[in-house]
Amino acid sequence: MMKKANVAIDGFAGSGKTTVAVELARQLELVYLDTGLMYRAVALQCLREGLDASQEPLLAELIQRLDLKMEVVARPHPTCRMLLGSEDVTDELHDPRVGGLVSKVAACSAVRRDLVARQQAFAERGGVIMVGRDIASVVLPEAELKIFLAADLAERARRRALELASKGKHLTEQEVEAELSLRDRLDSERADSPLVCVEGARQLDTTGRTVAEIVDEIAGWVRCGSV
Ligand code: DC
Repeated sequence: MMKKANVAIDGFAGSGKTTVAVELARQLELVYLDTGLMYRAVALQCLREGLDASQEPLLAELIQRLDLKMEVVARPHPTCRMLLGSEDVTDELHDPRVGGLVSKVAACSAVRRDLVARQQAFAERGGVIMVGRDIASVVLPEAELKIFLAADLAERARRRALELASKGKHLTEQEVEAELSLRDRLDSERADSPLVCVEGARQLDTTGRTVAEIVDEIAGWVRCGSV
């Protein structure tokens, strides 16, 4: 059987990557993996152990012994759950304390090397839609379709504040905006695999557009075989 195409989605925090990817995975029957959750799970473990995340050797030692499992399901809804040992920690991964630490963890090359290898092994089967910051540039440079999503900072903050509120976490848009813009800067300026829009990626600005519009546009490219 022909291997299905892999789709890489990168972009700034709050640009709509997750929402768009989940809907595309559903419509196109792709397996969805949110790689941000993997970095968040490492950050959570760091917090739990009280490790100083600016000490790279400590992170390198942690990632070697970390028992992280990705439980990815396509049906009835595409979703990813992260397990540390046998504990499902997914619901803790959007805690602002994890958000505050994760860029530091994601800047560590030993952590990136380990997680990238797992992500590449995961995509070998084909038919995967993977979301992150370095998917087109590092993890899946051969992906058949590469998408880079962007949106205005104010709109991204509004979306993220709503999402957090739906999970019972109430922050002002200003607070979320400050966190997002710091994270944008750290993710774009780090030395190892910074967020970039690679040549050949299709760039979409989601500001003022609905999820359905964006999904239709991307699904159209896949369906008409223009990827
Ligand atoms: O998408 P997110 O906000 O859950 O990502 C969490 C952090 O992990 C973010 O600071 C960027 C980083 N990340 C990364 O460096 N590479 C990825 N492939 C995915 C996320």
